[in-house]
Amino acid sequence: MDRFVIEGGHRLSGVVPISGAKNAVLPIMAASLIWPDRYILHNVPSLRDTLTMAHLLEIIGARVLFEHNRMEIDTTTCHNPEAPYELVKTMRASFYVLGPLVARFGRCRVSLPGGCNWGPRPVDLHLKAMELLGADVTLEEGYIVARGQLKGNTIDFDVSSVGATGNTLMAAVRAEGETVMTNAAREPEITALARFLQKMGARIDGIGTTTLRITGQNELHGTEEEIIPDRIEAATFLIAGAMAGDKVRIKGASEDHLTDILGKLEAAGAVVNRHEEAIEISRPSATLPVDVVTAPYPGYPTDLQAQWITFMTQAEGNSVVRDNIYMDRFAHVPELIRMGARIRLEGNKATIEGPAELIGAPVMSTDIRASASLVLAALVAGGTSEISRVYHLERGYENIEEKLTALGARIERVADDHRLQKG
Ligand code: UD1
Repeated sequence: MDRFVIEGGHRLSGVVPISGAKNAVLPIMAASLIWPDRYILHNVPSLRDTLTMAHLLEIIGARVLFEHNRMEIDTTTCHNPEAPYELVKTMRASFYVLGPLVARFGRCRVSLPGGCNWGPRPVDLHLKAMELLGADVTLEEGYIVARGQLKGNTIDFDVSSVGATGNTLMAAVRAEGETVMTNAAREPEITALARFLQKMGARIDGIGTTTLRITGQNELHGTEEEIIPDRIEAATFLIAGAMAGDKVRIKGASEDHLTDILGKLEAAGAVVNRHEEAIEISRPSATLPVDVVTAPYPGYPTDLQAQWITFMTQAEGNSVVRDNIYMDRFAHVPELIRMGARIRLEGNKATIEGPAELIGAPVMSTDIRASASLVLAALVAGGTSEISRVYHLERGYENIEEKLTALGARIERVADDHRLQKG
């Protein structure tokens, strides 16, 4: 496992191109299973998670070609509607194949994801929706087995869930009759999935709202799609710019998807200039404390909670960050404290005392966004930080090393084995 060694204190400037959205491409890849045909995806980020999903599609029997951010998927040869534990345990988004597989084969066996570093992360809403669509759902030796011909129904979600909305959408496009989903998630990644399904011939009304109406179709077809830019990657670089930037230009992001975070960054004093081709951001002379509460889109995303806490360690005063989506998603807090941050955690509420002088330290984290928050801390910390388990970053940030280096960060990848040999 590799580590990043980051020398802090260097100002960032220049252009950073934003990659395709991980959370959009994963369900879109799964959607290609619904109907046997050829699919071409552009702007696919080369990430561990996209490779894991490609591997899963291959296990199911698809042929996948992935080169230079272009992915070609042929699902005509699929024959094995199964998602093995070995893959699902490494990436929960593998569960996205559930809806497509039942829709296509009338049966499937998908490993139930286990626990997660952010708490229980249940899939009850996915399963309840499949049952409402007429599937018989059982648990057999750790696997969800779903069988049956799907029929449209009304599904009212108690909680807004990105995954359950995506899975249900992918099942409903082939269910007989009409399905109505209320309290559906409307994250841009769900909108992107719905548009992709429309291109496959699905009938979906209400895209971009919390009520989706789907009229099941007997036939769909292959298609071609451009993956939307990754708003979480873009926002992570915007926060890097607000912490250490001297005109950092974020290129290729969709500004519409960043309204909330841009507002928060400006409230914190960051200098933001919106250009047609790029969003430019610079560090404020003094960072103001700004509280955030995570919420479903268009609210502040839980996927940017860790990065905001890091930013707020530099604010002139105290701020409060609450995660209402994932109550236990705070693995980064003890690591930031090791770097000198002053953060008090009570349940899902973090109180950050700023400004804190961060000092480089060896740190590690157990998920993608928490790791990103440690990179941000390392960029402004005095001295050198070592961030282990770089593979978490590789799951969600394409070429992060190259992108940061191009902005002027001092970041080096070191293989752990190398250190053992030297030691
Ligand atoms: C997706 C994103 C993840 C993001 C999250 C919230 C992907 C691959 N992952 O995860 O990066 O942090 O949305 O924006 O797109 N819940 C239930 N029962 C369920 C499902 C969810 O109670 O069956 C709850 C969860 O515990 C959580 C809330 O619903 O409190 C939202 O979770 P959800 O939107 O489903 O997250 P994911 O789709 O897993």
